[in-house]
Amino acid sequence: MTAPLPIDDHTQLFVLTGAGISAESGIATFRDAGGLWENHKVEEVASPGGFAANPELVWRFYAARRKAALAVIPNAAHRALAQLGSRLGDRLFLATQNVDPLHQKAAEEAQTGGQLRSASTSIICAMHGELFKTRCSREACTEEPFYDERCDFEDLPRCPCGSLQRPHIVWFGEIPFEMHTIKRRVQACSLFVTIGSSGAVYPAAGLVREIRYRQSQGESVRSVYVGLERPENADSFDELHLGRATEIVPALLGV
Ligand code: APR
Ligand code: ZN
Repeated sequence: MTAPLPIDDHTQLFVLTGAGISAESGIATFRDAGGLWENHKVEEVASPGGFAANPELVWRFYAARRKAALAVIPNAAHRALAQLGSRLGDRLFLATQNVDPLHQKAAEEAQTGGQLRSASTSIICAMHGELFKTRCSREACTEEPFYDERCDFEDLPRCPCGSLQRPHIVWFGEIPFEMHTIKRRVQACSLFVTIGSSGAVYPAAGLVREIRYRQSQGESVRSVYVGLERPENADSFDELHLGRATEIVPALLGV
């Protein structure tokens, strides 16, 4: 039985999630057997060079991801975080590496779910982008990214400026969104929790090191990992809780 973390009126909680939190909703993770990259080389479908070389293949890949994501719903781990978010408001900062919309969907459910209605919302930061957003591929373009559920295209989608549109996803070789805000929130948190991330992709995998640094400076801050197996950055965490996100996360968050 997992004992709940001490979360009170003063807790500043930083949560980082990865593909493992959505696995039990039915979205394949990247590095487990049967992971998403299996039939494609990463650089073909998830790099600026891959898009330049074959935008059609890249759009087909992300259209299939969109279709898969439309068919799934949040699980108990997403819902537990959303419920806690209703209570903590902006004292919960949730950075997700996932591009699926399951944290947002769970938050919407919690906001409209009767008892849990609350004016405050936690902050959800989609650091690797969002599957259901599209933007112009021309960096200097002033058109904003927009919500986009399209899964079928007759022709490759184009921006009003004439350039090809691309998925609003952070690809290999690109810098995650909002890193400045993320680092600031890691430096200010009292509790750092990572859920379902193999700890292989930086800079996300390196955030927990800041907690170690702060501890070396005498600060009182704790780091916790939840996931099926030891992540690659396991040594940087104070505690590991190994198991399924849907079982451990609700117990750990006490919701
Ligand atoms: N509950 C908890 N953890 C799980 C579960 C589960 N039900 N199922 C799998 N996991 C764990 C796996 O053991 C693994 O450690 O989740 C982790 C998933 O790791 P990855 O597939 O590597 O996903 P992630 O760490 O999110 O990948 C980071 O890599 O390709 C890029 O941009 C992409 O955001 C992605 C980034
Ligand atoms: Zn444009």
